[in-house]
Amino acid sequence: MSVDRRRPVALVTGASSGIGASYATRLGQDGYDLVLVARRRDRLDDLAERLGSNGSTVEVLACDLTDPTGLAKIEARASQGDIEFLVNNAGFAGYRPFAELDPKIAEDLIRLHVLAVTRLTRAALPTMVQGGSGAIVNVASLLSLSGSLPANPLPYRATYAGAKAFIVTFTQALSGEVPASGVRLQALLPGVVATEFHDTLNVDRSRMASMAMGPDEVVTASLAALEHGELICVPGLEDPALIEQLTGAQRAVMQAGNRPQLAARYKAPSPSAKSS
Ligand SMILES: NC(=O)c1ccc[n+]([C@@H]2O[C@H](COP(=O)([O-])OP(=O)(O)OC[C@H]3O[C@@H](n4cnc5c(N)ncnc54)[C@H](OP(=O)(O)O)[C@@H]3O)[C@@H](O)[C@H]2O)c1
Repeated sequence: MSVDRRRPVALVTGASSGIGASYATRLGQDGYDLVLVARRRDRLDDLAERLGSNGSTVEVLACDLTDPTGLAKIEARASQGDIEFLVNNAGFAGYRPFAELDPKIAEDLIRLHVLAVTRLTRAALPTMVQGGSGAIVNVASLLSLSGSLPANPLPYRATYAGAKAFIVTFTQALSGEVPASGVRLQALLPGVVATEFHDTLNVDRSRMASMAMGPDEVVTASLAALEHGELICVPGLEDPALIEQLTGAQRAVMQAGNRPQLAARYKAPSPSAKSS
């Protein structure tokens, strides 16, 4: 009887630093070959050398995922049929009051966090479903839940938080499409993590160290959550019942609000309309 000694392949976007580099390192230790994606080729080459010396075969694909040509290249690689673990992790903050945000940065935020996540998932998922196994981790953020909070003291984040909320809802709804397929999905919602993400934001690194989780711990939580079958992983959250309360409240609003009748408060003329 022949034994399949082929190593599984993982594709990690944003692998040149932070959470993505930690994810790639951990998956290499766990026996994966790797496809590493980010813009900084030198960083990817260094990581590839380290992972290669530990036994992984590593492909480096340096490209900008906000660029249609770059995304198409990674999409073609993701659709080759051998990716068994996809980590959609590449991201940046772009924090700024929305009225002052460069429209090109707003577009790039959506290209990276929404379009690239969607297209790479679409590219990798079919063979995972056919094969009855595989995992897709989409890195969102706790800020995906922050829409009801004011701008201060949190960062100005309308586009970033909106794009991350897309990732959460996309991943949740997709999990409802493939429940029995054997494919594991996860939206990962870290809080503040000590990475280069904050370097452009003038955040004091020493202050960061006291308030931030390390990227390796985020990856440990994500992998454990996949084992536990948790669709939404919040690495610092002690009480997972809060996630059920959150999703339960969303379902309750949907069920109570989806009626053919107008809610009573919208039927009565407003006092200002009466007086005018
Ligand atoms: N750090 C936090 O506090 C925090 C909290 C919650 C969620 N997150 C999320 O976690 C993910 C990873 O961030 P991190 O904290 O690890 O930050 P990081 O160290 O800055 O890593 C971001 C990665 O994304 C890559 N990237 C950025 N723009 C890209 C583009 N246009 N095309 C291809 N790759 C691109 C970067 O590589 P190149 O520059 O080489 O392209 C880098 O590898 C992001 O999605 C972020 O939104 C971070």
